This record gives sequence, structure tokens and C-alpha cells, in this order.
Amino acid sequence: MKRAFGLMATSALVAMSFAANVQAQNVEVLHWWTSGGEAAALNVLKQDLESKGISWQDMPVAGGGGEAAMTVLRARVTAGNAPTAVQMLGFDIQDWANEGALGNLNDVAAAEGWDDVVPGALQNFSKNGGNWVAAPVNVHSTNWVWINKAALDAAGGKAPTTWDELVAVMDAMKANGITPLGHGGQAWQEATIFDAVVLSMGNDFYQASMIDLDPDALGGDTMVEVFDRMAKLRSYVDDNFSGRDWNLASAMVINGEAGMQMMGDWAKGEFLKAGQVAEEDFVCIRFPGTQGSVTFNSDQFAMFDVGMDNDSQKQMASSVMNPTFQSAFNVVKGSVPARTDVPNDDFGYCGKKGMADLAEANANGSLFGSMAHGHAAPASVKNAVYDVVTAHFNGEMSSEEAAEELAAAVADAM
Ligand code: BGC
Repeated sequence: MKRAFGLMATSALVAMSFAANVQAQNVEVLHWWTSGGEAAALNVLKQDLESKGISWQDMPVAGGGGEAAMTVLRARVTAGNAPTAVQMLGFDIQDWANEGALGNLNDVAAAEGWDDVVPGALQNFSKNGGNWVAAPVNVHSTNWVWINKAALDAAGGKAPTTWDELVAVMDAMKANGITPLGHGGQAWQEATIFDAVVLSMGNDFYQASMIDLDPDALGGDTMVEVFDRMAKLRSYVDDNFSGRDWNLASAMVINGEAGMQMMGDWAKGEFLKAGQVAEEDFVCIRFPGTQGSVTFNSDQFAMFDVGMDNDSQKQMASSVMNPTFQSAFNVVKGSVPARTDVPNDDFGYCGKKGMADLAEANANGSLFGSMAHGHAAPASVKNAVYDVVTAHFNGEMSSEEAAEELAAAVADAM
């Protein structure tokens, strides 16, 4: 009897430890990387983990900017079924950490010296109460313009450096019979352009309006001018823009149907995936008037406290932070590494520029969190900005009304 019990106990233990092992070798990852370029980058991560014996359970939720993914995440956590790792942006990481939902990565961070290689601007989001709760995989920035090279040549050949030059190039593209601005009518895409237009009014104005949420900056004359510029940009968009996904707008620029797209550098992933080469097929510039400044966002993997041995989470975090991986992944993704010690050798022209711009902006105090991508203010404020910007873009209010409404909506959301 005793012996039989012993046997049973042993086999139960074996079964249990097998189950733990299976758990330890598996990560379920919730993300919104579903476009061609994004999926190619995701594959680099998937394969890296699989080469280490960690199998990947995919939980994609389509929708640029991640709003839909965050809605699904909330439902999963509420149902007591959090995924292992979640692609997450800025303030969302802090919100989840403040709810006590995230695991702790301090051991692996200390062993690998993350404190010394991750820029402070990212650590502000990766750490909560001094603890590492997320591993940053990249740095994107939103104040870019992607221009079809042949279309630019046909429009005079000079990349615009000021607002007036930008308008002149778009007028020339219109006269040449193409859509000057490839754009998808979704709130987050309009907000992405808005980031750049606000920044083009000066660093102080971006800081006051988007970071400090100063009502005078949000509702004042400069903001009215921002909205006037948004309305002008709207006049260069084609009739079928409503609801179009961002990567289809990139495709319009790639195939020459549109002249340019104002979008974060994930768009570069689409150009590269299509076999295009920077400076030959497409041109990357900072939104005119924002040279020297950067509005950034960083994709991080937040590790949920899933109440089990979190070995696989630590292994995933360690893989994500590996310098060789950060180079390989970001070359494909269009972003730049989240560590300061990764060489730029494998990056193309725009990637090298992105890395140099980021370092320069960081050194000069011209690096700001992107409002559109969750690094300037919490989601409640971000969503309030989305609503006003998109309503104005769609002609529902004048620029004066939009500025007034923006100040009011942000105040309500705070
Ligand atoms: C993310 C990028 C992603 C883009 C479009 C951004 O918020 O940071 O990684 O490619 O949304 O989906």
C-alpha cells in the first residue's frame, strides 16, 4: 500500500513537473504586428525564441497603434486569463503596473546590466516603482515623411524642409496627377500626423501642449494654426481614405499612386519588405520644421504575472534585450534599437539617420514622447485627443472650435 502510494506520488510529481516544463517552454504573445513588414519582424523574434526551445503561441489583434489589442487585453485579464507577454506602449505599461498586474524582471535586468544600456527616456516606461516590468524591443519615431523618389523627382526633386516647401511639393504632385498624401482615415493615423504638425510649431509648444497639457497651449492661437495645417493636409488626401489601413497607404506610396505618407518608421518596414531601397526608391525626411527633434514611442513586452514559474518570461525578456537580436529585429521592423550599445552597421540610410537623430535629440533635450502612440499622456487623454483631431480632420468642426474642444476634452480626461 505504502509502496503503491509512493509510486503514485512519484508519477504525479513527474506529471506535474512535465506540466511545469511545458509551461516554461511556452509563451503566448499578444501583439498588433499584422502588416507585411511587421509580420516579417515578428518572425525574427519568433525564430529567435524557437531556436532557444521556447514555443510561440500567437495572439495577434490587428489595428495600428494597438487600441484594439488593448481592448482585447482588458477582456482577457478581466476573465483571469492574461497572456504571458504583451506588446505595449508607454503609459499603458504604467497603468497595468499600477494595477499590480505585471511580473518583475529585476533579476534578469540586473544580471544583464539593462540600467546601463537602456536610455532613461525608455526606462521611465519600462520601470515602475524602481522595478523592471517590461523589456523594450525598439524605439520608433512618429515625425517622419516617406516620399516616393520618382514622384519627388517629378515634383522638382528637392525634399521639403519647411511647411511652405512641403505645400509646394504636394501642389506639384497634384498637378502631376497623383494623390499627394497617401493616408488612411483612422483616428490614430490622423493623430500620428498631428504629433508632427504640433512639433513643427517648436519644441516648447510640443512640451506645453502634449506633455504638460497646458490649457492655454491646447486651446490657443498656435493650436488653431496646427488645425489649419491639418485641414490643408486633408485637401491632399484621396476620396477613398476613410478606414484605410496604414500599410495600404504605404503601398500607395510604394507603387507611385501617392507621393508621400506621414507615418512612424514602421512604414519603412513596408518599403523594405517590398524590396525598395532608401534614396533610390524612397526618401525619408523628418516632417518639415521638426529637424533635430524626435517624437518617439517604444514597443515593450510587458510580462503579466501569470502565477506560474516565469522562467519563459525571463528568457523572452533576455532574448528581446540581446544586442545582436536588437539589430536583426529593428533592421526589419523599421525602428532603432532600445539599447545605446548596438552598432548601426546593418542598418540602411534611414535606419542610420534614425539612430543618429535619436541620439542627437536625446542629448539636446529635443526628445519627446509621442501623444499618438501613448508616450505623452495616459490613454484617457490620448483618446480625447484622437476624438477631436479626427473629428476636425473629417470636417466636423472649424480649427477654432477644434482648439477650444481639445482644451476642454483633455481637461475632462485628466
Ligand atoms: C507600434 C508599431 C506598429 C504601429 C502600427 C505603433 O503603435 O509602436 O510597432 O508597427 O503601431 O501598427
